[in-house]
Amino acid sequence: MQNPIEIERLESVDTEEPQAGRRSVLVGAGLMAGAMVARGAAAATFDSAPATVNGGAMPKPPSDRTAGEIRKGRGSALDGKVAVVTGGARGIGRAIALEYAANGADVVVIDIAGFVSPASDAAPATPEDLAETVRQIEAFGRRGEAIKADIRRIDQLRAAADRIDRDYGKIDIVVADAAIQRWKPLLEMADSDWNDVIDNNVNGTANTIRAFAPKMVPRGKGRLIVLSSMQGKHGTKDGSSYSASKWAIIGLMKSAALELGKYNITVNAVIPGLVDTPLTRYEKRLTESFAEQGHPPPEHPTPQQAWDERKPTVPMQVGWLQPEDIAPVAVFLASDAAAMVTGAEYEVTGGDSAKDI
Ligand SMILES: NC(=O)c1ccc[n+]([C@@H]2O[C@H](COP(=O)([O-])OP(=O)(O)OC[C@H]3O[C@@H](n4cnc5c(N)ncnc54)[C@H](O)[C@@H]3O)[C@@H](O)[C@H]2O)c1
Repeated sequence: MQNPIEIERLESVDTEEPQAGRRSVLVGAGLMAGAMVARGAAAATFDSAPATVNGGAMPKPPSDRTAGEIRKGRGSALDGKVAVVTGGARGIGRAIALEYAANGADVVVIDIAGFVSPASDAAPATPEDLAETVRQIEAFGRRGEAIKADIRRIDQLRAAADRIDRDYGKIDIVVADAAIQRWKPLLEMADSDWNDVIDNNVNGTANTIRAFAPKMVPRGKGRLIVLSSMQGKHGTKDGSSYSASKWAIIGLMKSAALELGKYNITVNAVIPGLVDTPLTRYEKRLTESFAEQGHPPPEHPTPQQAWDERKPTVPMQVGWLQPEDIAPVAVFLASDAAAMVTGAEYEVTGGDSAKDI
C-alpha cells in the first residue's frame, strides 16, 4: 500500500467537495491522476501554469491540427489507411511497404520493375520482385497491389493516382522512394550520367508529389514522405549527380511542406545512411568504403573487407544498415502521432549522421 503523501490540492482539480480555495490535504498518491482520468485523457494537461494570460484563454488548435490525445499505438497504427510506395519492388521501398502492411495499411507498390537507364549502377528490379512484394503485403493480411509505372512519366503516375483513389476510396500516404545511383567523376561522366540521374531522382520525386498530392487536397489530409540520403547532406566524391539529386529532394520536400501545410498534408524526408540493397551491391560501392576513410582499397574488395573497414567508424558498429532498419521511421511519419511533423529530415544512419551538421 502506498504511503499517504502531503500535496497541495489546487482549485483546478475537480472534487465532490465545494471548492474551498487553496489548502493542504492528505491524499493518496493517485488522486491527481484519478481526477484526470475522470475528466477524460483529452483534458489532461502537462504543466501547472494557469491556462490564461492577461485574462485571455490559451487558444487550442482544431482537432485536425494536433497529434491529439495520447493513446496506445498512435505512433505506429496505420489501420485502415491506404499507402502508395514507389520503388517498392525491392530494397528500402519493399521494407516500407511491408512495415506499413504489418501495421494495418493496404499498400499499392509502384515500380518500373525493369531497366531504368545506363546511368544506373544497380541491376534492374524485375516483375518477379514486384510480385513478391505484393505477396508479402498480403501475407500480413492486407490488400496489396502492384502497378508497373515509370516515375519519369507523370502521365503514368496521374493514371495510377486516379485508379487507386477510385478503387480504394482515398490515398492517405505516399512514399517517393524510387531512385537510381551513379558513381562517375565529373570529368569523366557521359551526359546521361548527369541528366538521367537528375531526371529520374529529382523530376521523378517531384512528379510523384505532383501526381498524388491533388488526391489528398480535397480530403484535407495526407502524408508525403520522400527518400533523400546522407549523400544529400554532404558532397560525394565521384557521386555528384546522385548527391545533387538527393540534396534537391530536401529542397523539394521543404518547399512542398510550405505549400501543402494549409491542406493538412505533411511532407518529410527520410535520410538513410548506407543500407545493403541492390542499389549498393557492386564493387565501386565497396571500394568507396575505403576511400571514405582515406585508405587505398584492395584491388577487388570483398563485402566482408568493406564491412570491417566501415564498422569501427559507425557509432552503432555496423558496416551498413538493413532496409528494415529504415522502415519504422516511415511508419511514424505516416501515423496520426506525426500530425505536426512536416518539413523535417529524419536520419537513420546507425550514427553516421552524428559526424555531419
Ligand atoms: N541503399 C542505400 O544505401 C541508400 C542510402 C540512402 C538513400 N537511399 C535511397 O533509398 C531509396 C531506395 O533505395 P534502395 O537502396 O532500396 O534502391 P533499390 O535499387 O534496391 O530500389 C530502388 C527501386 O526503385 C525503382 N526505380 C528506380 N527508378 C524508377 C523509375 N524511374 N520508375 C519506377 N521505379 C523506379 C527500381 O526499379 C527499384 O526497384 C532511394 O531513393 C535511394 O536513393 C538508399
